Amino acid sequence: MNLRLDTTAESIPTAAYTVRRGVPADAADLASFAARTFTDTYGEYNSPANLAMHLTSTYSLAQQTRELGDAGIVTLLAHRYAQLVAYAQVRRGPPPPCVGGAAPVELLRFYVDKSHHGAGVAQRLFEEARRAAAALGGAELWLKVWERNPRAIAFYRKCGFVDVGVADFFVGVDRQTDRVLVLDLRDGPARTPS
Ligand SMILES: CC(C)(COP(=O)(O)OP(=O)(O)OC[C@H]1O[C@@H](n2cnc3c(N)ncnc32)[C@H](O)[C@@H]1OP(=O)(O)O)[C@@H](O)C(=O)NCCC(=O)NCCS
Repeated sequence: MNLRLDTTAESIPTAAYTVRRGVPADAADLASFAARTFTDTYGEYNSPANLAMHLTSTYSLAQQTRELGDAGIVTLLAHRYAQLVAYAQVRRGPPPPCVGGAAPVELLRFYVDKSHHGAGVAQRLFEEARRAAAALGGAELWLKVWERNPRAIAFYRKCGFVDVGVADFFVGVDRQTDRVLVLDLRDGPARTPS
């Protein structure tokens, strides 16, 4: 049964979304959602071969099962009713040289289903991701975003991130340039971008 209501994204109250930590039992749902949202976002800019390579290495059931069971990675899932509509992953990991700071934590992935863009779930999920980063001991939250993804860059700027440089990102064998953005977690509570 499809529980999605026939409601425009703009009219959905933020409280209608639930956010919880993912567990290995979520792997199948997450793997398929993550592959679909990556393809929706970047599919048209990559060759089918490079895209397939990336989806296999990053969003396979085995890989997502591993990540969901990894204590160093926090995966957050946002649902509307029983439907997965967004996810975020936060982890400790070595940052690129342009990220300074005492205790950097990475916002590894942050994806909202396109039918929920602009609905407020991104803000709700980001608040939880920020909390998770602080709980991992982070003093700075950093991320990489493709230089030609203006909507994501605009969203992160609204959240308070600043641009500190560039880093490579590979889709298959294609080397692309990402902007590297950093948010100081000690600046107080999350901004709530409207
Ligand atoms: C990035 C993402 C999480 C942001 O969530 P969202 O609900 O779309 O965010 P918002 O609508 O609150 O904010 C996006 C902002 O970008 C603006 N925007 C939209 N299209 C834009 C464009 N082409 N160029 C510049 N800004 C743009 C919007 O107007 C909005 O700013 P405003 O609130 O000042 O008007 C979501 O769009 C998404 O999941 N995108 C696909 C996956 C992705 O790119 N993930 C990031 C990977 S690093």
